[in-house]
Amino acid sequence: MTRKLFRNGRIFTPIDRGTPLAGKHQGEVAHLPNGAILTKGGLIEAIGDETEVLAAVSRRDVDEEVNCRGHCIIPGFVDSHTHMCFAARREDEFISRLEGADYLEVLRRGGGILSSVRAVRAASEDELFSMTRQHALSAVRFGTTTIEIKSGYGLDTESELKMLRVIERIGQELPLDVVSTFLGAHAVPEEYAGAPNDYVDLIVHEMIPAVVARQSSTRFCDVFCEEGVFTVDQSRRILEAARKAGLGLKIHADEVNDVGGAALAADLHATSAEHLLRASDANIRAMAHAGVIGILLPATAYSLRKEYAPARRMVDHGLPLAIATDCNPGTSYTESIPFVFGLSVLNMRLSVYEALVASTLNAAYAVHMAEHVGSLDVGKNADFVLLDGDGPVILAYHAGVSPVLQVYKRAEAIYSE
Ligand code: NIG
Ligand code: FE
Repeated sequence: MTRKLFRNGRIFTPIDRGTPLAGKHQGEVAHLPNGAILTKGGLIEAIGDETEVLAAVSRRDVDEEVNCRGHCIIPGFVDSHTHMCFAARREDEFISRLEGADYLEVLRRGGGILSSVRAVRAASEDELFSMTRQHALSAVRFGTTTIEIKSGYGLDTESELKMLRVIERIGQELPLDVVSTFLGAHAVPEEYAGAPNDYVDLIVHEMIPAVVARQSSTRFCDVFCEEGVFTVDQSRRILEAARKAGLGLKIHADEVNDVGGAALAADLHATSAEHLLRASDANIRAMAHAGVIGILLPATAYSLRKEYAPARRMVDHGLPLAIATDCNPGTSYTESIPFVFGLSVLNMRLSVYEALVASTLNAAYAVHMAEHVGSLDVGKNADFVLLDGDGPVILAYHAGVSPVLQVYKRAEAIYSE
């Protein structure tokens, strides 16, 4: 197995204690000003101060040495919430929103998510793959090495399975770890207009069994719990069925209105509750007690021109936070974690280290991948990013451009500026 030595790096990595970092630990990051990483077969064999790592290995046993030239090294980003599998952009809708149209109103009129559904149903599997691949490659250029991608633009059994196959193929053909989430409950499709409970029946009795029967990499089930989309009762039915079928639970909760999504996430001990722009203090505390991870998506608040999620209050209440792009054609069209990092620090007031933990380790926990990724620790994947800066603060400071110089996945360079 190939051994590689990466030397002369300023390493910043979250400290993995076996659970997501929360409260005063949310920003727990180790800094090795003169660090080195030794890898073997794509995994981290040793990491530490360069002199210590060099003392423990004979240079003869190293196949390749990389001088990181004093650049900052952080773990590869884990983008824990995306809808980047879609077949067409929605620029016209964006323009209407700029002119004042309301996002949920557009959906009620058959646009928004439903227009993406029409495009996905009409697209061939190869067309859908090619657009998704473009988005995933773009994410890699911004430092993402692990990504969650949701279905949810098919909304009939065959089209949802088509999406899940495409998402799986991304993981097979690109140098990325991909986690797929079934989001059949993203909207009520047109053919079920006025009969949402019949669509919930279809999800529970046909779609979820079909998804798990594939024995694919689909790990989670998500629901858009929102006014005019799925109620708390409908969401609960779907998520309980998903849990019985062996899937982990995620909820789009309190994105536009607090209809009880965060409370449901706490009640079901979901893995994560995502968005949370409107979450109340009581529900934030309930989620923290229930072991839920909050995934915040500040590029969505930015694009919808809404108030950001109350991140500081969440840290104070001990809710572990992740941040993610939400990359989708409607509310947040970006593959850039650096952009989201900047919004988190400047507009949600996370500290730089809190945002680093949120975009790596806590995000890895939120997709059940922390055993392998999310921090630079012995035994984990050698997934890391070299930044053109002295520290991760560059991600917020150098705005609107990418400070990403190189991206490594399992010790292989997968992007170089
Ligand atoms: O996370 N809110 C639901 N889903 C996405 C938007 C999807 C879309 O508009 O296509 C979100 O904001
Ligand atoms: Fe989303």
